[in-house]
Amino acid sequence: MRRDALILENLGDSVVFTNADEIVLECNASALKMFGRTEDELVGQPISAFVVDKDSFARDFPARTALAAKNKILESEIVLRKGNGDHALAEYASVPWKSADGSFLGYVTVSRDITEKRALEDQLQHAQKMEAVGQLTGGIAHDFNNLMGVISGSLQLIEAEDEDWGFIHKMAHTANKSVMRGRDLVDRMLSFSRRQNLDPVETDIAELMEGTVDLLRRSIGDNINVTLEFDANLARCVIDQAQLESAILNMSLNARDAMEPGGHLSIAARNASVTEIEEDQAIGEHHYVCVSIQDDGTGMDEGTLAKIYEPFFTTKDIGEGGGLGLSMVYGFVKQSGGHINVESVPGEGTTFSLFFPVAANDSSAHEKQITQTQEKNKTKQLGRILVVEDNPDMLEVTQHSLGRMGYDVVTETSGSSAMTQLSENPDVKIAFIDIMLPDGMTGTELAKMLLSVRSDLRVLFTSGYSDPAILKDAADISQVIRKPFNLGELKDALEGLMEGSKTLH
Ligand SMILES: Nc1ncnc2c1ncn2[C@@H]1O[C@H](COP(=O)(O)OP(=O)(O)OP(=O)(O)O)[C@@H](O)[C@H]1O
Ligand SMILES: [Mg+2]
Repeated sequence: MRRDALILENLGDSVVFTNADEIVLECNASALKMFGRTEDELVGQPISAFVVDKDSFARDFPARTALAAKNKILESEIVLRKGNGDHALAEYASVPWKSADGSFLGYVTVSRDITEKRALEDQLQHAQKMEAVGQLTGGIAHDFNNLMGVISGSLQLIEAEDEDWGFIHKMAHTANKSVMRGRDLVDRMLSFSRRQNLDPVETDIAELMEGTVDLLRRSIGDNINVTLEFDANLARCVIDQAQLESAILNMSLNARDAMEPGGHLSIAARNASVTEIEEDQAIGEHHYVCVSIQDDGTGMDEGTLAKIYEPFFTTKDIGEGGGLGLSMVYGFVKQSGGHINVESVPGEGTTFSLFFPVAANDSSAHEKQITQTQEKNKTKQLGRILVVEDNPDMLEVTQHSLGRMGYDVVTETSGSSAMTQLSENPDVKIAFIDIMLPDGMTGTELAKMLLSVRSDLRVLFTSGYSDPAILKDAADISQVIRKPFNLGELKDALEGLMEGSKTLH
């Protein structure tokens, strides 16, 4: 074999010689592999016979010839149809090939299959995009909930005025309801970004589903026939029950929309093993419970499928879909250590499968402590309360609200000044602390220090949004109420503390 032929045959890249009419004259072994064809199938045929988008390829023929006449190398990407019908994305460079007298004879095209490389790049880009949205949400959520805390607190103070302000009260009430909806929206965003505070407990998913199916049937209407199917010996999972219910409800509503005017929705849960999950998603030798939601609705095409978990992606009309349903489900599943798969065939239907890891010690459920039941008879003796909050507007609203409830309020904006305040004010009974404080000392650290000098002090935390780890740290010390809070919630929480129903460490 001649030296150049040897090189050609062993080259990893595909090399194809074509004439001026783009008919294949000769090619190497890598080209046969990339095109998925035999030499007989390839040689003698126009290149266009192997191109997926034949029309636009043909349209560009004059442009290619004009470039070749100017001795320009043509570099681009093209989708090929292989012998077995699969598509291959090829990156190529076509060099014009001329005779000794300079007349144009055709091209030498060097190309390679970049299908897998592109798929990996897309996957990475997608993951990075999701991560960026997540970080952004976490950042916004904190400030946003603080802002809404101020708005909500002020509105509730207006509502609580004794004056005969009928219309004003009504408007304040309506506005406040909107603020609370804003808080829910932030919650959904947080759940997508996997930064929400989950409350996982050991759960029998079948039992949970049976308890919710009535509500689900009512939400999706009579036109949809819902069936449940569970493995008899279904393993237990450690999971946030409210979030799972809301995920299933969200997916059932999607299924309803896809089955207009009606159809069959099947919800099933069965024991599953890790091998069922695509390898790149597997995280270990876990066993899973697979919850599947199957509909016989419109199904989705590839373009839709690629985007469904993205926040705000929706194919529904304005006002009908916010595009947050599946992104919330996705975030929740991932944060629970699980996986989500979807199979969909246009015109036939869709199946979502959620895989949740089985509880390490799949035994009796740990009974969850329900938060304190409130005694409705309030103690009249409301003592002095120290509020530590760095946002001045929030501080002002909280001060007014607590004052109105009958507390004697002292305020501080940082951890260090709060320490001084406490030592000068031995009659402070409660410290109401924002978890996110400036100047290095977090609310949790402050609480620990305050409690170390005053073990009888009662602590209540508040938070607009905090890292789940910090939040958990705080929750280990005492109760946390979320911003924006309802004054009723705040009042109940404080009374609970004063009655000593929450033991402090
Ligand atoms: N079961 C399904 N069958 C067909 N298409 C679906 C199904 N589930 C989701 N989709 C598609 O995915 C898109 C995104 O769903 P997602 O639940 O995130 O948002 P949405 O339903 O449009 O709005 P939202 O849930 O916030 O009200 C939908 O608009 C729809 O096109
Ligand atoms: Mg939805």
